Amino acid sequence: MAKNKNNQAIWNTRIQNEASNLFQKVGNSIDIDKRLYKEDIQGSIAHVEMLFRQKIISFKIKNKIIYGLNKIYKEITYKKFEFNKKYEDIHMNIEKRLFQIIGDEAGYIHTARSRNDQVITDFKIWIKTATKDINNNIDKVIKSTIKLAEKNIETIMPGFTHLKNAQAISFGHYLMAYVEMFTRDKKRFLNNLDNLDENPLGVAALSGTSFNIDRNFTSKKLGFKRPTNNSIDTVSDRDFVLDFLYAVSVCSMHISRIAEELIIWNSDGFNLINLSDKVVTGSSIMPQKKNPDLLEYLRGKTGVSYGNFFSMLTILKGLPLSYFKDLQDDKELVFNSNDTLINCLKIFDEVLKNCSSNKKKMLELANTGHITATDLADYLVREHSISFRKAYQKTAAIVNMAEKRKKNLNELTLNELKKIILQKKIKLTNSSNVLIKPMVASLIAYIFSLARGLHFAIILKNKRKFDRKNFEKF
Ligand code: ARG
Repeated sequence: MAKNKNNQAIWNTRIQNEASNLFQKVGNSIDIDKRLYKEDIQGSIAHVEMLFRQKIISFKIKNKIIYGLNKIYKEITYKKFEFNKKYEDIHMNIEKRLFQIIGDEAGYIHTARSRNDQVITDFKIWIKTATKDINNNIDKVIKSTIKLAEKNIETIMPGFTHLKNAQAISFGHYLMAYVEMFTRDKKRFLNNLDNLDENPLGVAALSGTSFNIDRNFTSKKLGFKRPTNNSIDTVSDRDFVLDFLYAVSVCSMHISRIAEELIIWNSDGFNLINLSDKVVTGSSIMPQKKNPDLLEYLRGKTGVSYGNFFSMLTILKGLPLSYFKDLQDDKELVFNSNDTLINCLKIFDEVLKNCSSNKKKMLELANTGHITATDLADYLVREHSISFRKAYQKTAAIVNMAEKRKKNLNELTLNELKKIILQKKIKLTNSSNVLIKPMVASLIAYIFSLARGLHFAIILKNKRKFDRKNFEKF
């Protein structure tokens, strides 16, 4: 329990017996919230400066308190500070030490504030900084993703739906999809700043204070845009915690999706990507193994982020206003989610730098599953004025025939194609009939081009480019 200078609990006049050992053991949070020491001291300095400006404390007392706080800041930073579980949390540890350094005048520091507004002030400042740090790490991941995409603009692979070969894409195009996701993640974190920018300091325990404080002054000093509106809401609100945990969860989920895909593509069945030895691990029994453990680690950690998000939602469910001890767990969840995500972003960046495409295998796989069927149907529509549905049916019949004859689309002969395209069962319009000859001719040219390879190059930033020059390359 928190004690004053004489090693007594601060509330010992009212509560005369010591708390039970068990309660002393579980009631403290110092091991977790000591991470807030910098923000706590920053908040306290702004608070006493405001108290002095408002003539609530004297110049001398203000200076003494600030001197003591700066000393404590150095002690903690240089690991000379002895944290004591008896004093519950970071706020009481610092206050207790202030008494030791400057004496009884330390007692003025808690005028017109409560730990209830103090802790969320610290916490909001901390989350704002964490948000910037996360976004810097996302930026690095985006850069590495773009670098890999640039190397693979013309790397043809099948795009999948239902994990079945669907249409030809470039690996670069695929990677750029993740750039979009990570860019949204950054935006999601930034959007949270608006709520984080409201200053809780000054609402005290729940109802405000009888002192003539200036909350605009502390807002400005601490980098908040404005004071919060309602004091009861302020001490009860942990929406900003949920917002942060949600943003972490979504970003983590994005990482897990690409991790999962890379795991699949790294498997012996697919063998589409290579991971360098830096990011794989071996097996204790199977000497030949190279396992993508790091990617699995990333996928797994998403569960941790979701868990933290759901824990906080559950803590808040049905919790009456205003402050309850239940809320104290918010910090452990946020710190854990933050550290996990930062770690995952760093690992993922490392994986990207150690990942390359197996272009030959990608192209080989793209040559199975008739993935140019949609392009063939599009061709019929575009060049020969038939409806897409009709072209779709004709192409489906061509695919069926190819499958029956165990051929790829591009291996069908002109006669085979003619058989289907001229078939009356799937009727063409009159105008299309006129065009049937040139259509067959260009279709053959098209199909033969396919025989030499696929021709899709995807430009960066999600634009699909039809580049005929690439015909020659394959
Ligand atoms: N360590 C506490 C927390 O994080 C600070 C607020 C304590 N307030 C109280 N009324 N006991 O929730």
